[in-house]
Amino acid sequence: MTEFQAGPLSLSFGRKQVLHEVRTEVLRGGTMTALLGPNGSGKSTFLRAVAGVIRANGPIMLDGMNLARMSVQEKARYCAYMPQLLPPPVRMSVVEVVLLSLRLGGNYVGASAAMERVDAVLASLGIMHLADAMMGELSGGQRQMIGLAQALVRSPKLLLLDEPLSALDPRYQFIVMDALKRETVLRNMVTLVVLHDPAVALRQVDSAMMLRTGRVIASGVVEDIVTPEIMAEAYGVRARIERGSDGAAMVSVEGVV
Ligand SMILES: Nc1ncnc2c1ncn2[C@@H]1O[C@H](COP(=O)(O)OP(=O)(O)O)[C@@H](O)[C@H]1O
Ligand SMILES: [Mg+2]
Repeated sequence: MTEFQAGPLSLSFGRKQVLHEVRTEVLRGGTMTALLGPNGSGKSTFLRAVAGVIRANGPIMLDGMNLARMSVQEKARYCAYMPQLLPPPVRMSVVEVVLLSLRLGGNYVGASAAMERVDAVLASLGIMHLADAMMGELSGGQRQMIGLAQALVRSPKLLLLDEPLSALDPRYQFIVMDALKRETVLRNMVTLVVLHDPAVALRQVDSAMMLRTGRVIASGVVEDIVTPEIMAEAYGVRARIERGSDGAAMVSVEGVV
């Protein structure tokens, strides 16, 4: 069974400390964890540190291996990271950029197996129709879907996504969260996802950690994290949590504290 735990990680930019001993719980394969918190609370910085884009001191343990000690190439075999920035509108086709990501991830499969994997990922995200489009011709939201395909095609054990829904319309937000849940279970991945919206987390993930000013103020099963008390402490809002007729949780923000 895949097991992951990052931290405690601390990190400063110049004299400003941005992460204060931030650590995850022990996260298991097949589960999704949301990283929540207000703007500037350190979500992206933590994810970048886990991905190894920036260096923080502290262990990042995946199945007994310390990712913090691995070379970039070695790490790419286990871990895929999608940054908050959208993939650029380069002069390459969708199939080409997804294939390139698979190769850069160190997956040495044959050409036809590689194409099969690219097709399967595009199909699972409902974007087969974009396969031959050029990146430069796509909308921001469409490019965000391609960024996600680039991460998923590597079949990582650890999937790190920074606000993967930020450019998506409601339909694709649903498709993406649904596909992420399905693929996370199917591939037994540990999926760590920064989400802007606690309501989405409450509906879609298993566990969550709430950051504020670079510190974890709560972590555990998502129902225990997205609560009126913690929403007030983290975001400074008065929130109500309700169950819809289908049992799905809803968060309504009624004012500021
Ligand atoms: N490269 C950087 N240099 C200096 N400060 C940074 C840098 N990146 C982020 N910060 C600061 O670190 C804090 C956390 O940023 P970030 O992790 O992007 O927050 P979030 O993703 O939660 O909105 C912010 O105060 C931000 O200004
Ligand atoms: Mg961010």
